[in-house]
Amino acid sequence: MRKNIVAGNWKMNKNLAEGLELAKAVEQSLQNTKVNCEVIIGTPFIHLATVAQTIDTSVLKVSAQNCADKVSGAYTGEVSAAMVASTGASHVILGHSERRAYYHETYDILKEKVLLALENNLTPIFCIGEVKEEREANKQNEVVKAQLEGSVFNLSAEDFSKIVLAYEPVWAIGTGLTATPQQAQEIHAYIRSLIAEKYGNEIAENTTILYGGSCKPSNAKELFANPDVDGGLIGGAALKAEDFMGIVTAF
Ligand code: 13P
Repeated sequence: MRKNIVAGNWKMNKNLAEGLELAKAVEQSLQNTKVNCEVIIGTPFIHLATVAQTIDTSVLKVSAQNCADKVSGAYTGEVSAAMVASTGASHVILGHSERRAYYHETYDILKEKVLLALENNLTPIFCIGEVKEEREANKQNEVVKAQLEGSVFNLSAEDFSKIVLAYEPVWAIGTGLTATPQQAQEIHAYIRSLIAEKYGNEIAENTTILYGGSCKPSNAKELFANPDVDGGLIGGAALKAEDFMGIVTAF
């Protein structure tokens, strides 16, 4: 059966000392709490090695928020999937709407990033989701379908079964607006049906699909109660150990 996961995406927040403090606080709470999901923190690149070497990554896994679409070489400022893996991180968030919107990451670029992550034994947490205008035009299904077809449906069944998906409606990110549990369930079920069509029922049933967008301790339980919502990708509420743990314990 598929895993339940709660993953934090710290985005561009916390300096190294603050990040380490937050990671340790989450790890400590996890040591003292029985949880029913896998827990991951997505830190800025520069924190990865220190955090992964300081905490017990069997209790709290560490993720990057991006990696390069090239293997190595003269790409000033980039960080490769192999470098991310060498820090002790196990996951990488790819295709986040902020990277698509502000850094012009196309379907093809993301396709390369996913392949390189997998080659380096990193688990991609691949994000998809529509913007407000697309939701208002009732185009959310075609948008997520195109995003999947554009960047991950090229994968072999074996590779596809290694990835985690995150549905993040862009209109719900950092806005305080959350998809209703019904809206989340409806589109998660649709995403799972697309996976079943492409890779068969077994792989579809085993794929973890996270919800992201203004998820907080007060709404996590209702969202996670849906049969096709397997956890969350958490932004703002991942920046305080107490809030993040409030979501983790919603399972
Ligand atoms: P918020 O939880 O701050 O809305 O961010 C969600 C997100 O983008 C996680 O990747």
